[in-house]
Amino acid sequence: MGELKNDIMETIQEQEKITAMPRIGDKAPDFKAITTQGDINFPYDYKGEWVILFSHPADFTPVCTSEFMTFANLEGKFDKANCKLVGLSIDGLYSHIAWLRTIKEKIEFNGMKNIEVTFPLIEDITMEVAKKYGMIQPGESKTQAVRAVFFIDPKGMIRAIIYYPLSLGRNFDEIYRALIAMQTSDKFSVATPADWNPGDDVIISPAGSCGVAEERMTSTDELKCEDWFFCTKKLDEKEVLDKILKKTKLLAE
Ligand code: BEZ
Repeated sequence: MGELKNDIMETIQEQEKITAMPRIGDKAPDFKAITTQGDINFPYDYKGEWVILFSHPADFTPVCTSEFMTFANLEGKFDKANCKLVGLSIDGLYSHIAWLRTIKEKIEFNGMKNIEVTFPLIEDITMEVAKKYGMIQPGESKTQAVRAVFFIDPKGMIRAIIYYPLSLGRNFDEIYRALIAMQTSDKFSVATPADWNPGDDVIISPAGSCGVAEERMTSTDELKCEDWFFCTKKLDEKEVLDKILKKTKLLAE
């Protein structure tokens, strides 16, 4: 009887490990892993930079292939926003290498071809990392990771998480938009409304007292208040991008 109880407890604990999910505001769980670009010590190797850690279900599958080509094509754009990319699937290193070689040699998608994936792709055959990050969602698949996207800030904190099911390829414009919006919030102490993009008005923090609420409704300065709790202000696109994006060096003429 005691043995059966122990077995049940172990099964429950294992199940809890699989479904444990880090949350927004948590420190990114750390791990060491083998990748297609060598070993990594996560998140310490990325201190001082943003990093997007994302999972995909499997190598040599079409939706994943389309996503990898798109992400690889955008790597320079993310790098300019001080953000590195790290992929993961529950496959071995040699499968990863073979798949990335096939992508470069054979696959054409959305006008992209000859695409070389130069960001690290983690081998996670043991599912150790996938379990730590709640990338296995047993109702969807017990053996393949769902399409998870973790945004981790320069201090190693999880700032946003997006999950997609196996059949749905991600929207990379949205992933980039979310990254820029969070960096804008940090740099300018503002929030960003629905569908915000650089150049659009931003939201200032809500009034914290009746006095400030009254001021907001009567002031005629730079704020535009729909009501005391909903005030926006202009934030120039150039000001945002100048502060966020790395400067590109002009070549000497
Ligand atoms: C795909 O990447 O095409 C895929 C992977 C797993 C399940 C469904 C689709």
